[in-house]
Amino acid sequence: MFELEVSASKTYKITIEKGFSLFSERVLPYLVGRNVAIITDDIVDKLFGGILDGFLENKRVVKIVLKHGEKSKNAKNYLHIINALAENDFTREDSVIAFGGGVIGDIAGFAASTYMRGITLVAVPTTLLSMVDSSVGGKTAIDLKAGKNLCGTFYQPSAVYINTEFLKSLPKKEIKNGLGEVVKYAFLSDTVKKSDIKNIDENLIYKCLKIKRDIVNEDEKESGVRALLNLGHTVGHAIEKLSGYKLSHGACVVKGLRYSIEVSKRLFDLDGKTVNKMYALLKYAKCDLSVNFSVDEIAEQIIADKKRQGDSVKFVAIKDVGKPEIVKIHLSKLKEMLNDYES
Ligand SMILES: NC(=O)c1ccc[n+]([C@@H]2O[C@H](COP(=O)([O-])OP(=O)(O)OC[C@H]3O[C@@H](n4cnc5c(N)ncnc54)[C@H](O)[C@@H]3O)[C@@H](O)[C@H]2O)c1
Ligand SMILES: [Zn+2]
Repeated sequence: MFELEVSASKTYKITIEKGFSLFSERVLPYLVGRNVAIITDDIVDKLFGGILDGFLENKRVVKIVLKHGEKSKNAKNYLHIINALAENDFTREDSVIAFGGGVIGDIAGFAASTYMRGITLVAVPTTLLSMVDSSVGGKTAIDLKAGKNLCGTFYQPSAVYINTEFLKSLPKKEIKNGLGEVVKYAFLSDTVKKSDIKNIDENLIYKCLKIKRDIVNEDEKESGVRALLNLGHTVGHAIEKLSGYKLSHGACVVKGLRYSIEVSKRLFDLDGKTVNKMYALLKYAKCDLSVNFSVDEIAEQIIADKKRQGDSVKFVAIKDVGKPEIVKIHLSKLKEMLNDYES
C-alpha cells in the first residue's frame, strides 16, 4: 500500500493499493453524514456497483448512474445530479463518491463543489487516466457546446482511493490513453524511469502522483508551475480537436511530446545525445508518433485555443528528461519552429 498527502487548500490523503479486501476500511472513514450519493457510469456500475453497495449498509445511499462517455459531462447531467441531491435532502454534512473515470470525476466533483457551496467529495477513480491524473489536483468541470471543460471549479476531494484491481477490466484502449500521461510524467521527472513504464502497478501510479502532488502543493490554481503538467498538451490538444476527438487524449499527448522535443531542440539548441534520449523514451513506451495534420492546421487550432495568452502561448519545453521549463512563445515563432521541423 502507498500513501501520499496533498497539502493544497485542503489537506487530504491518496491511498494506492491492490485488492479489494480492505475497501470499506479505506473509504468508509471519509464519508461524513448519513446520506451518501454514489455518482458513476453504467459500465462501472455494472462491473463494480456491488462493491460499494455492500459496505454502505449503514448509510442512506442514492445512486446516480450516467451513461458512459464524454457526452455525459454536460450541464443537463450536472443539474440532474444536484437536483437529485436536493430532492433526497442532502445537506452540507453529507457525502458524494465519484466512482468512475475522469468523466465521472469531473462532473461529480463539479456537482459536489457547487451543491450548497461544497459537500464532502471522495474520489474512487477506476481508469488509469483518472488514477494518475484527473482524480488528484482538484480541477472539476463540465463541457459546454463551445468547448470542453469550459465550466468548472477548483475543489479538492477529502480523500482519493486508488485500487489497481479496477484496471483489470479496463479495455486496452483506455490503458493506452492513461499511458500517455504516464509518459508525460517520465519526461517531467526522472523519478519515473523508463523501466517503470513496463509495469502498470501501484508503484508506478504512486510515482506519477508524487510528481503531480508536489506541483499542486506549490501551485494549486495554476498561476505558475502547475502549467508544467501541460507538457505535450499545447500541440496534443490541437491534434485531439483536429481529429474530432476520434484520437484519445493520451494518444495525442504523446504526439504532442514529439513536438515538445522538436521545439525544445530549437529553443535550447539541444545536443543530439539529449534529443536521442528523449526519443528513446517515446520509442520505449511504444508511442505512435504519426500525425496526419499539417503545421498550419495545428497552428490554427492553437490560435483558436482559449488558453493562449494574447499572441503567445505558455509552452512547456524540456531541456532534458526531468528538466521541463515553461516558456512564453509568440505564436508566429512557434509556427516557425514547427514548420522548420516539418520541412
Ligand atoms: N480534472 C482533471 O484534472 C482532468 C485531467 C485529465 C482529464 N480529465 C478529464 O477526464 C476525462 C477522461 O477520463 P477517462 O479517460 O477516465 O474517461 P472515462 O471516464 O470516459 O472512462 C473511459 C471509459 O472506461 C470505462 N471504465 C471506467 N472504469 C472502468 C473499469 N475499471 N473497467 C472497464 N471500463 C471502465 C468508462 O465507462 C468509459 O467508457 C475527460 O473528460 C477529461 O477532460 C480531467
Ligand atoms: Zn492530459
